[in-house]
Amino acid sequence: MDLKESIGIYEDFPKEGISFKDINSLILNPKAFAHVIDEMTKVAKALDANIIVIPEARGYIFGTPLAYLIGAGLVPVRKPGKLPGEVSSEAYDLEYGSNIVEIQKNAIKPGDRVIIVDDLLATGGTMMAATKLIENLGGEISGIITLIELTELGGRELLKNYFVHSIVTYP
Ligand code: PRP
Repeated sequence: MDLKESIGIYEDFPKEGISFKDINSLILNPKAFAHVIDEMTKVAKALDANIIVIPEARGYIFGTPLAYLIGAGLVPVRKPGKLPGEVSSEAYDLEYGSNIVEIQKNAIKPGDRVIIVDDLLATGGTMMAATKLIENLGGEISGIITLIELTELGGRELLKNYFVHSIVTYP
C-alpha cells in the first residue's frame, strides 16, 4: 500500500518554508490507518516493551492502538501545565519554534522497557526530550516508532543511540 497517497501535503503551513505533512487524511482512510498500525505492531512486538510513551497530541493516535495490541501501558508526554502531581520537564527545539514537554514522575519505574510512538520525526527534538524524561526516571528505551520521518532534518542522527523505525520517509 502506498501510504503517501493518503498523506496530505500543505506548503507554507504553519509558516513559510514548512511543507506540512497532514496525517488527518490517512486516519480518515480505515485501510491506510489499519496498515500503519499493523506495521507498527510487527516492529513493536519484537522490542519487548511494557510501556508505550505517546507525545501530545498526534502520538496519541498511533500509540494508543499499539499499546492495546501489544499489551503495554500508556504514558502521555504533554505540553506544560497539563499533568497533575509531580512532573519532570524537558525543554526542546521544534522544526518551528521551541517548547517544553512534561511527564508524570510516577508514570515510569526503574527497569520499565519503553517504546516512544509519534506521528512524525523531524529534528528529533521532541523525541530526544522524551527519551531524557524516561531515562531520568530509570526507564530504558526499547525503541522509537514513527509514522513519518523527514530525513533531511537530522532526527535519526540526533537519536543515533536508539533503535528508530519509521514507516514513510520524505527528504
Ligand atoms: C509535531 C509532531 C512531533 C514533533 C516532531 O508535534 O507531532 O511530535 O512535532 O518534530 P521534531 O522532531 O522536530 O521535534 P507538535 O509539537 O507540532 O505538536 P502537536 O502534535 O500537539 O501538534
